[in-house]
Amino acid sequence: MLPAEPPRTVARADGARGVVALRVRQGPAGPVHELIVAGIFAMDDAETSSEIALAEVALARCPRPDRVLIGGLGLGHTALAVLRDARVEEVTVVELEPALLDWARADLVPALTAVGADPRVRLVEGDVGAFLGTAGTEYDVVLLDVDNGPSFLVHEPNHLLYGEPALRAALARVAPGGVLVIWAAQREPALLALLGEVAGPDRVSEVVLPIHRDGRAFDYALYVVTRPAA
Ligand SMILES: C[S@@+](CC[C@H](N)C(=O)[O-])C[C@H]1O[C@@H](n2cnc3c(N)ncnc32)[C@H](O)[C@@H]1O
Repeated sequence: MLPAEPPRTVARADGARGVVALRVRQGPAGPVHELIVAGIFAMDDAETSSEIALAEVALARCPRPDRVLIGGLGLGHTALAVLRDARVEEVTVVELEPALLDWARADLVPALTAVGADPRVRLVEGDVGAFLGTAGTEYDVVLLDVDNGPSFLVHEPNHLLYGEPALRAALARVAPGGVLVIWAAQREPALLALLGEVAGPDRVSEVVLPIHRDGRAFDYALYVVTRPAA
C-alpha cells in the first residue's frame, strides 16, 4: 500500500497566539479538513458527530431557540447544525481567531462557507468569556466549544472560562427556558460538580458521547444546564 500523502495547507495566518492553518488530507471517504490553532492541531472533520450533538442536545431541550450564541467557530459544524433548525432566528458566533472569520467568508471549507453565508449569522471576533462577561442580550441557547475541557486545555487562558465567575456570567446570559451546553473531549467530574453548585444539581446533566477515532475509543461529554422558564 502507498503511504498516505501529507496534508496540504490551503490557508495560513500568523495569529496573536501562533499559526492558524487549514489543511486538507485525503481520507477514505473524501477530503478531510484539519484546523490548526495556535500552532496546535485543534480538530478535523473526519468525525463531527459530537460537534453536531452539542447543537442537537441543546435544541432538543429548548422549546423556543430563537437566539443562539456559539463560542468557538472551529470548522463550523456546530453552527451548521444549529442553522438546520428552522426555529432559530439569530446565531451569534464568537471566535478568537480572526483568520477563521475570514475563512468563513471565503470558499475554502464547505461547512464554514455555509455558516458565513447564512443571513441569520453574526460573526464576532473575540474571547467568548469576555463577551459573556459583559451585560447584554439573553440567548435561548449558549453553546461553548472552545477547548478540550478544563482538565486538558489547548489554550491555557481558557481555564478562566470553566471557572465559577465565568460560568455564572454565562448562565446569566441564558434566557428563561433556555439552555447552556459545554462540550468536552473527556468526562469532567469537577466541572459537573461546579455547575451543580452554580445552577443547582437538578438543573445540570452530563451526556457522554462514545466516539471511535483512529481505532481508539473516547468518551467525549456534554455538560447541560437548563434555566427554568419564567
Ligand atoms: C474545537 S474548535 C470548535 C469546533 C466547532 N464546534 C465545530 O463544530 O467545528 C474550537 C474553536 O474555539 C476557538 N476559541 C478558542 N478559545 C476561544 C475563546 N476563548 N473565545 C472564542 N473562541 C475561542 C478556536 O479558535 C477554535 O476555532
